[in-house]
Amino acid sequence: MAESLLFGLAESFISKITSRAVEQASLALGVYNELQDIKNTVSLIKAVLLDAEQKQRQNHQLREWLRRIKSVFTDAEDVIDDFECEALRKHVVNTSGSITRKARRYCSNPLVYRLKMAHQITDIKERFNKVAADRLNFCLQINESDNRVVQRREMTHSHVNESDVIGREHDKQKIIDILLQDGGDKSLSVIPIVGIGGLGKTTLAKCVFNDKSVVESFPLKMWPNSPREL
Ligand SMILES: Nc1ncnc2c1ncn2[C@@H]1O[C@H](COP(=O)(O)OP(=O)(O)OP(=O)(O)O)[C@@H](O)[C@H]1O
Ligand SMILES: [Mg+2]
Repeated sequence: MAESLLFGLAESFISKITSRAVEQASLALGVYNELQDIKNTVSLIKAVLLDAEQKQRQNHQLREWLRRIKSVFTDAEDVIDDFECEALRKHVVNTSGSITRKARRYCSNPLVYRLKMAHQITDIKERFNKVAADRLNFCLQINESDNRVVQRREMTHSHVNESDVIGREHDKQKIIDILLQDGGDKSLSVIPIVGIGGLGKTTLAKCVFNDKSVVESFPLKMWPNSPREL
């Protein structure tokens, strides 16, 4: 059941919200204290999640409560991703001194962006407060550390033996065409590769990453170092 992953989700959310990039972006947008409040509330929820996950099978209301928490986490992650994006944009502006037309359009009105983010943060904070208050309806024990045996994902690396990869030439070329269509490194894009587990998404990304034309067009490349990302 998806709800049994909530403890891990809460842990990664807290580490995300306390990351340097998010902290800096929240300071710049004047919502640092709000994010700290959210972090404290999520910690309260996290403390009873392991027990809640264990007891949910026999308790419909508990299952419903966990579902609500999952929904808030999903929306909260989107908002935090927005923060990370903003931090990245700032970094690009500070280091290169210029931004692309696309990025400029995105942040053309900083005041509107600031208001929008403040509104979203308040909304998330209130929703977390509500689910945190509801935890008192259940007799849940506090347990801060997960001792269950979980299979953690290995870190990936960018190396691939292309002679072992079958039938991906067309997909690879399609992605490369998209990457290079605006003149390579002048555009800032995200290209999702979606599919069921084990389909070959990471392998395809590796093939693109190591392709000669990509190497030539993007002198500076980075392979994500988090197993969540690939
Ligand atoms: N086109 C291919 N030809 C041969 N082997 C492949 C191909 N694509 C992937 N594989 C192999 O299949 C396995 C799973 O591939 P990969 O890790 O890329 O899948 P994934 O979609 O990223 O999985 P996950 O959803 O778990 O992240 C790997 O051992 C990889 O070497
Ligand atoms: Mg993968």
